[in-house]
Amino acid sequence: MDVIITENIEGVSIDALSEKFKVYRDEKLWDKRLELFETVSTARAVIVRNQTKVDRSLLENAKSLQIVARAGAGYDNIDVAAASKLGIVVSYTPEGNSISTAEHAFALMLALSRKLVVAHRDTALGGWSRYSFVGTELFGKTLGILGFGKVGARIAIRARAFGMRVVAYDKYILPNQFTVTETGVELKPLEEVLKESDIVSAHLPLNQDTIGLLNYDKLKLMKKSAFLVNTSRGGIVVEKDLIQALEEKLIAGAALDVREKEPPEESKLNHMDNVILTPHVAAFTWEAQKRVVDTVVEDVTRVLHGVPALNYVNFSLPKKGLKNVTD
Ligand code: MLT
Repeated sequence: MDVIITENIEGVSIDALSEKFKVYRDEKLWDKRLELFETVSTARAVIVRNQTKVDRSLLENAKSLQIVARAGAGYDNIDVAAASKLGIVVSYTPEGNSISTAEHAFALMLALSRKLVVAHRDTALGGWSRYSFVGTELFGKTLGILGFGKVGARIAIRARAFGMRVVAYDKYILPNQFTVTETGVELKPLEEVLKESDIVSAHLPLNQDTIGLLNYDKLKLMKKSAFLVNTSRGGIVVEKDLIQALEEKLIAGAALDVREKEPPEESKLNHMDNVILTPHVAAFTWEAQKRVVDTVVEDVTRVLHGVPALNYVNFSLPKKGLKNVTD
């Protein structure tokens, strides 16, 4: 088999790929470890979302594998170091869904500020409690963005249009960078962003630096009136600490699109009126998914034809068969 698709990834470009290569699709394959191992063992390319654990053992067993293509921006489910050592290209789609994710984060900010979900629930049940649902404006408030990359910068542009002040924490961004100067965002240390913000919106990748970053001590720094929005990776927020912070009213509410464990287990978060939960759908719009799928298909096609990938994490062509493979 040439290409294995292990999750729900569809679109006209996937159909076109099937005309050029032998493609095997099983949207539940990610959840059948043994079958996944066996199927990927003879593949030249594998296309995944975030649920397939592409670890060292899977990669070592895939002797013909040239490219792992991630239909999405985060690649924390892929052992990139192992892939690099084995000469396998890791590609991803850094741009495709950032507008949709920024818009979803905004939807959650507005929904939290205006108590939309609880107001809807009450009204749909026959209530008309206008004075129970007094909210807050975004105008004049400070938005704290954690991670000022492709999504963070898009949020800043939208926040400015709402009349918000924007501060951001990002270890790798320089103050003279285009996105910083053009959005007028103020870069600050994490602690200051947490202390100053009325809404904190997280847009960080999951890695050794960010796992468990927002723990009880960090949440305690936030204003009692502040909201936390997370549309990046669940693992950056310690959920039990968030629950404690909400119970102790250290913060006013939270909206989570991503969870420590996906799908999540039963949680106190499910029953809190000041919490909004969505099932990792920030990137799920027709527009974003078309861009994402077109991008992975393009790179898989290129690599299988011996042409360099365009959106690669490690290198643009497989280094298999070469001596002294380096990153
Ligand atoms: C991404 O990393 O692009 C989004 O979280 C969506 C996804 O994981 O599929």
